Amino acid sequence: MNHPTHAGRVAVVTGGARGFGRAIAAGLAGRGADVAILDLVDAAETVGDVTAAGAKASSVVTDISDPEQVAQAARAVLDMFGKVDILVNNAGVIAVNDFWETDYPTWRRIHAINLDSQFLLAKEFAGAMRENGWGRIVNIASNTLGVVAPQLTPYMASKGGVVGFTRGLATDLAGYGITVNAVAPTASSTPGGKELISPEALEYSARMQAIKRVGTADDIVGTVCFLTSDDAAFMTGQTLVTDGGWMRV
Ligand SMILES: NC(=O)c1ccc[n+]([C@@H]2O[C@H](COP(=O)([O-])OP(=O)(O)OC[C@H]3O[C@@H](n4cnc5c(N)ncnc54)[C@H](O)[C@@H]3O)[C@@H](O)[C@H]2O)c1
Repeated sequence: MNHPTHAGRVAVVTGGARGFGRAIAAGLAGRGADVAILDLVDAAETVGDVTAAGAKASSVVTDISDPEQVAQAARAVLDMFGKVDILVNNAGVIAVNDFWETDYPTWRRIHAINLDSQFLLAKEFAGAMRENGWGRIVNIASNTLGVVAPQLTPYMASKGGVVGFTRGLATDLAGYGITVNAVAPTASSTPGGKELISPEALEYSARMQAIKRVGTADDIVGTVCFLTSDDAAFMTGQTLVTDGGWMRV
């Protein structure tokens, strides 16, 4: 185990079956948190990682873009763990779309998964955090917002929404002991990154970064763990760019 900064905490990580979400779940468990994973698919491997770290785990198969399924999953998690302290809104689709070919249903789908889901999950779990006077919400954004990259209009719009949502919610929840922050990773070699970003684009990103290697799933774990710890109690509404030093803020 790392420092037990998260002992006694219960975390929900969306999209935790693979990629960033799996690494985040394992990182939180390594610091002492129990973890519920909400994903379209059963997160058996992540459950293995979390239990190997000595924490409790549960995989709840959920489409986070469906309000009914999110409500059901929230009930199941609260029944199982009795509380939720930390919500990591990580699940999302990396979407590369030529603007001229993009229809409205595609635009809506990307927003439903990347942005609307974060609202639905915060609505379900912020009440439980408010009851305990302590909570941490971390939303995964993207460094694409701050760089020039083609064919990302719906994706960047959804991630811009994530940053705005983070700022607004941080203000509305600050009085209840709940902080809300975002993390902006770079193009990374997660399973989704490798499926949807070309090897050339991954290499280009590495070249543009100050730290000249392709990002991995593990590269944002430390940032998420910091933001969900007591150490970050006076930080809210921020987007921490964790991208090897490409986007400068
Ligand atoms: N990999 C990158 O290059 C990169 C860069 C910046 C930001 N991000 C963001 O990081 C987050 C995670 O990306 P990743 O690279 O780990 O992707 P990934 O595709 O490797 O993993 C995403 C996980 O989310 C799940 N998921 C997708 N849609 C879902 C839904 N509707 N309901 C529940 N679960 C769903 C998938 O089943 C999968 O397990 C996303 O929000 C993505 O936009 C990724």
